[in-house]
Amino acid sequence: MKTRLLSALCAACLVAPLHAEKHTPLGEQMEQFNDAYKALRKVEDPQKAAALTREAQQAVAKSLGEMPDLVTKMPDGPDKAKAAAEYRLMMGKVYVTLCEVESAYLAGDMDKASELLRSLRSAKKEGHDKFMEDE
Ligand code: HEM
Repeated sequence: MKTRLLSALCAACLVAPLHAEKHTPLGEQMEQFNDAYKALRKVEDPQKAAALTREAQQAVAKSLGEMPDLVTKMPDGPDKAKAAAEYRLMMGKVYVTLCEVESAYLAGDMDKASELLRSLRSAKKEGHDKFMEDE
């Protein structure tokens, strides 16, 4: 019994730090956003799609309260303030677009929703180019 408890504890010690390191709070929200965003491609029912869009909105709203490490690590000063403002502006625009996507689904306009979702691809690229650290 003792041996089993010890091995479980050791396994937890080994695994926990690996998991803890995997995602930053922002990375965690990005993952949630990505899951909802990807799932949207497979959903045909507008009500279900609107609900998934709200999930994506929640993750983006939480991302707005976070800051990329790249910005946090910058020395305090005007460049850091500018980068932080730019991050919030870009993420805020993604949030607004997701609100428009939700309205399009609720209006049954699937084409408009798809078009708006497509426009997020460039926002993703721009956001990652600017704010994601190289591996
Ligand atoms: C359609 C839009 C977007 C999607 C689907 C998306 C998805 C993702 C995914 C899957 C990750 C990796 C998370 C991880 O494994 O930890 C990530 C990371 C990240 N994204 Fe996005 N993203 C989008 C837009 C943006 C925008 C607009 C910005 C900035 C304004 C941004 C900033 C970041 C940053 C800084 C990280 C690194 C987080 C970290 O590891 O600390 N993303 N994103």
